Formats: sequence, C-alpha cells, structure tokens
Amino acid sequence: MGNKGTMWGGRFAAGTDALVQEYTESVSYDRALYRQDIAGSKAHARMLARQGVLQAAEAEQICAGLDAILQEIEQGTFAWKVALEDVHMNIESRLTELVGDVGKKLHTGRSRNDQVALGFRLFVSARTQEWRHLLRHLVAVLVTTADAHKETLLPGCTHLQPAQPVSLAQHLLAYAAMFRRDFDRLADGDKRTRVCPLGAAALAGTTYPLSPAFVAEQLDMAGVFSNSMDAVSDRDFALEALFGASLIMAHLSRLCEDLIIWANPAFGFVRLPDGYATGSSIMPQKKNPDVAELMRGKTGRVYGALMGLLTTLKGLPMTYNRDLQEDKEPFLDTDKTVSASLALMAGMMEAMVFVPQRMEAALERGFLNATELADYLVGKGMPFREAHHHTGAAVALAEARGVTLEALPLADLQHISPLITDDVYPVLAHKAAVARRNTSGGTGPQPVAAQIAALQAWLQVE
Ligand code: ARG
Repeated sequence: MGNKGTMWGGRFAAGTDALVQEYTESVSYDRALYRQDIAGSKAHARMLARQGVLQAAEAEQICAGLDAILQEIEQGTFAWKVALEDVHMNIESRLTELVGDVGKKLHTGRSRNDQVALGFRLFVSARTQEWRHLLRHLVAVLVTTADAHKETLLPGCTHLQPAQPVSLAQHLLAYAAMFRRDFDRLADGDKRTRVCPLGAAALAGTTYPLSPAFVAEQLDMAGVFSNSMDAVSDRDFALEALFGASLIMAHLSRLCEDLIIWANPAFGFVRLPDGYATGSSIMPQKKNPDVAELMRGKTGRVYGALMGLLTTLKGLPMTYNRDLQEDKEPFLDTDKTVSASLALMAGMMEAMVFVPQRMEAALERGFLNATELADYLVGKGMPFREAHHHTGAAVALAEARGVTLEALPLADLQHISPLITDDVYPVLAHKAAVARRNTSGGTGPQPVAAQIAALQAWLQVE
C-alpha cells in the first residue's frame, strides 16, 4: 500500500520528491559555469572525432548545437529546468533536442565526475584571472598615489603607538607589496588549476582511446591528470583559490582598518570621498566609513568559505562523492565578494583625500624622533644601550614640560649628556629622520623611489 494507506500518505510521495529535488539540485547556481561546460564539451567532442570514436561530421553537429545553446543562454532564452539537476544535464538534454540522436553520443567516454571537475577548473581559472586583473589595477592606483606622496610624512606606528616618521608613500607601498604577492600567489595556483581531468571518466579511466592531452591543448591548459581517482575528487585548486581570496581579503581588511582610523577626526589624516561614505539617520555630523567597514566584515565570510570547503573535503572516501557539489556556492560567493571588494578599494583609494597638514601635526606628538637622538649619541661615541637610556630621560623631561624633544633648550639636553651640541636640532627634524633611512626597502627617498620603479616595471609586464 505504501504511503497511500496512511493518514499522511496522500501528499508524502510527491512532497518528498519535491524536497529531494530542491535539496540536491545545483542548476540554480552552477549555471554560472555554462561557458566552461560548453567549452569542455566541444573540446571533448572534437577529441572523440580525432581519436576515431565519433565521425568528424558528428562532432561538428554537436559543436554547432553547443554553440546554439551558448547563444540561447546568453540571450536569456534558454529554459533552465530544475528537474534536470545541474548545468551539465540541462545543456546535454537541450543538445539532443536541437541536434537529435547524435547529441546522445557526446557523453561517450565521459562521466559527470570528470566533466564537472573540468568545468569547475576552467571557471576557477577564469575568475582568479579576473581577480589578478583587479589586483593589478589596485597596485597601479597605490603606486600612483604613493608617487604623489613621497614627501608627505606621517607617524609610523608599532602597537598603534607613534614609533618613527615614515612617508605616506612607504605606508601605501607596503600594501602594494601585499597585493603583488596576492597576484603572484594566484598565478602560481593557476598552474595547478589548469590541469585537465577529462578522461578520468567516473573514476577509473575509460576503455575508449581518449586523448586528454588533446582536450587540454584545445582549452589551453597546462597539463593533464596523472591519476584518474585523484582527478575526479581533487578540489585542491578551489581551496588554493579560496585561500588566495582569504589573504586578499585580509590585506584589504587591514587597509580598511587603517582608513577607518585615519578618517576618525582625532586623526583626520584622510577625508572619505562622499561616494564611499554614508551618513547617520540620527547624528547629522556623521560621515561613516561603511564601505571600509563592510569590506572588513565581509572578510569573515570569505574565510568561512575556505573553512567550509576544507571541512567538506576532510572526511571524503575516494573518489567522487556528492559532497563535492558543495564546492561551488562558497566559491561563487567568494568570487562576488572579492571581485567587488578589489574594484571598490581601487576606486576608494583613487578618490581618497589625504590631509598632509594633519599628518604633519601628528608628528609633533609621541616623540617620533627619539630614535634620532639615540642614534645621534651613538654617532658621538656612546654605546647604543646607554644612548637609549639617556634619550629616555630626555623624553621624560619633555613630556613633563609638555613640549617636543626639539623644543628642549640646549642647556637641558647637555645636562642629560654633555656630548649633545646644537648640531642636534637639524638631526631631530622629521624630514631628516626619513631622509636618513636609505637602506634597501626603507622609508628614505631612494628606497621609496626604487620600490616605485620596481612596481612600475612589474605593472608593465603583468
Ligand atoms: N552537480 C554535480 C556536482 O557539482 C555534478 C556531478 C554529479 N555526478 C554524479 N555522479 N552525481 O558535483
């Protein structure tokens, strides 16, 4: 009798089917991979013809049908069917509608397991290539801004406490260095992403004389799988991309944090461009750094995507398991977040108003030139530890009087150490402090110019 005889059976069979379909379908989101699925299928069909598995004319009919489907999808006329589960089945079913029985030959020697692995690899590669493009643009904006602010000085901090003066250029170039590493990391991961898994079939390879190398060549991939079981269950490439995205977001989030602090009127180092700030519904004076805050906040969901997929993979027995379908949503969500964040940060930095006068005024608080006094004493022959101690005494004196180090009269400084003469004052100037730091990678004018030149050369190549 089944469910029919029960009080609830009347609706149960249908109800369960609908829920299961809804639970297992992926076409609502994996349709994003349609271009890659079609490219993979065309490469597969042509390979089958080259290997004598299909007639050349059959492969061409299939490819023409796939091209027509691509058009339908891009024009928005393609009828996606949830009942067909995923992007792959939707496209294959439409192919047979369009070209007839020959469409049923496309799946020869192929499984959805190696098919989806190929499509997802191509998709991840395309999207991370877009991220790299956006990273490159952000680095270009940072380098241009740095170049305009080689002379602008501000307090460099450790522990968020005033430490030593630096140029704004040096501060911005620190971020340029991070984003350049992010670019290189993605480029490196792409080598492992662009490995063709087609030919692994369900898990064990096939009996047809396939040529994965020819598929790879058509799709401009870097190589082919070495083990069929690994090929259908490997998602390392997606994890690497998610890690790359996580680190991009970490770097963006740190820049956001600097901007949020700098925008606080107590600092006033930047004025947020109107287009990137919002007001408060109750406090008329407010200009809130919402874009920077949201970017900092969205970093969490990207880390979540990485943690999620790592966790999905950890307990999987060989080989393909349906769990692997859970690889796409976190990646799609991450793609949306990272792409938008990178583009917005570049726009925000381009429009940011820096306020050098406020940065300069901040140099007067926090004894940022204390190291200069210590180094000056070392130059006069005093061991560094002693010089550090004497400088501490000078700082304490200035602090007690509520003045800067350079405002202490010579007599007071000489009281601290008779080695000090009036040639100390130019040494204490912040500009001089920055100008002296000319070791490689430092904040001095020469290493800053060298960093800018190196990044400009890199931008030419990438
Ligand atoms: N939609 C599936 C996925 O994303 C495609 C592969 C399904 N393969 C299978 N044998 N059920 O992983």
